[in-house]
Amino acid sequence: MTATAGWHEAVAGLSAAGEPLAALRGRLAAAGLQEYCAVFNPLAPALAPWAERLDGVPEPLRTLVELFVLGREVPAPAAEAALGAGLTDSLAGLGLLAAGPGGTRHLGGLVLRFVSGYWLLTDRPGPNPVSYFGDDSIALLTRLAPRAGGSALDLCSGPGLQALHLSSFADRVTAVEINPLAAALARVNACLNGRQERIEVLCGDLDEPVRGRRFDSIAANPPFLPFDDDFPSAFVGHGGADGLGMTRRVLAVLPGLLAEGGTAQLIGSCVAARSSPRLPGELERWCRDTGLDAVLTVATYAPLAPGSALFVALVESAALAAGRPRAEAEAAFARSLEAQGADVLLAHYLLVTPGRGELRVIDVARPARRTMWFASGMARPDWLG
Ligand SMILES: C[S@@+](CC[C@H](N)C(=O)[O-])C[C@H]1O[C@@H](n2cnc3c(N)ncnc32)[C@H](O)[C@@H]1O
Repeated sequence: MTATAGWHEAVAGLSAAGEPLAALRGRLAAAGLQEYCAVFNPLAPALAPWAERLDGVPEPLRTLVELFVLGREVPAPAAEAALGAGLTDSLAGLGLLAAGPGGTRHLGGLVLRFVSGYWLLTDRPGPNPVSYFGDDSIALLTRLAPRAGGSALDLCSGPGLQALHLSSFADRVTAVEINPLAAALARVNACLNGRQERIEVLCGDLDEPVRGRRFDSIAANPPFLPFDDDFPSAFVGHGGADGLGMTRRVLAVLPGLLAEGGTAQLIGSCVAARSSPRLPGELERWCRDTGLDAVLTVATYAPLAPGSALFVALVESAALAAGRPRAEAEAAFARSLEAQGADVLLAHYLLVTPGRGELRVIDVARPARRTMWFASGMARPDWLG
């Protein structure tokens, strides 16, 4: 059985959770959970392949996979045998381990991932998550090159993956997230990785909680999916009509947040007519006005005309989030794209460094295959036949 709801109440009430979460980290490592997770391609986060490989997984690892990785309900005695009675009680006390029907235990809609050395609790994969994790999270993570020492800022942190990685380099990390539930989960994730002394999580709108402070490294994965502005869409993803709404807001506050010599790394997407992408013109002006250099790397593009797979996925997500009919979402999105003359979605990265106000563009974009974030997939070696 799969548990679907409940973590919201639990993490909203969590405060000092350092000790039990450190014990959990030790228990999971001892049982081999990180070894199990590492078998699966980190660029393709999905539950189904993990569930298919449970045969041959010994206890207590199997129970831990079901409970934490797959977010399933497991019998209470099995949970206790896998975690130990004391830790089971502590996690229940924190509200992270909930009691289900028929004497089961579950994580209340959370799943645990092991990503590049970090434990990360997030929502079970599904439409409109509160605490987001996706292939864009990994794409930004793998390119982060923060300065060693100093201070770092994770804007739009969600459950805090970028903040965790920044804390492996920087002395002090601040994560800012507007959703109080996602912010609470980011605090839990900091504890789960033993980084609570180095990561502070602030809940607020973009730069508002850190105004007046400056940072040596800044990472941002802001909402960047395009949708009609009048149509409320997924909270974690809505980037305005062209996808750049939140990116523009981040760019507007960046100069005031960067310490002298500091760098910033962003990931994003924007709608475009493939023949004339719009971003460079705007960015050129931004570089000139701020005196900062930027490298814009356009990785791939995906068809976004009505009927395309991406169009359909965005319409479904928007209709669900707004609780409005699918046909309305479809018509609104089609109108918005037509008004902008857009037929593709470009996936891009932005590196901002001190400099002379110049923009460089690396445009290697070809149609996206499997992921929008990498120009090539995994090659299939000949010897596999
Ligand atoms: C695409 S998710 C990125 C999450 C995480 N940084 C990652 O890379 O996986 C965007 C996050 O930005 C948050 N967000 C949206 N608007 C925001 C704002 N104005 N200020 C701060 N965070 C915001 C959303 O709640 C969501 O958690």
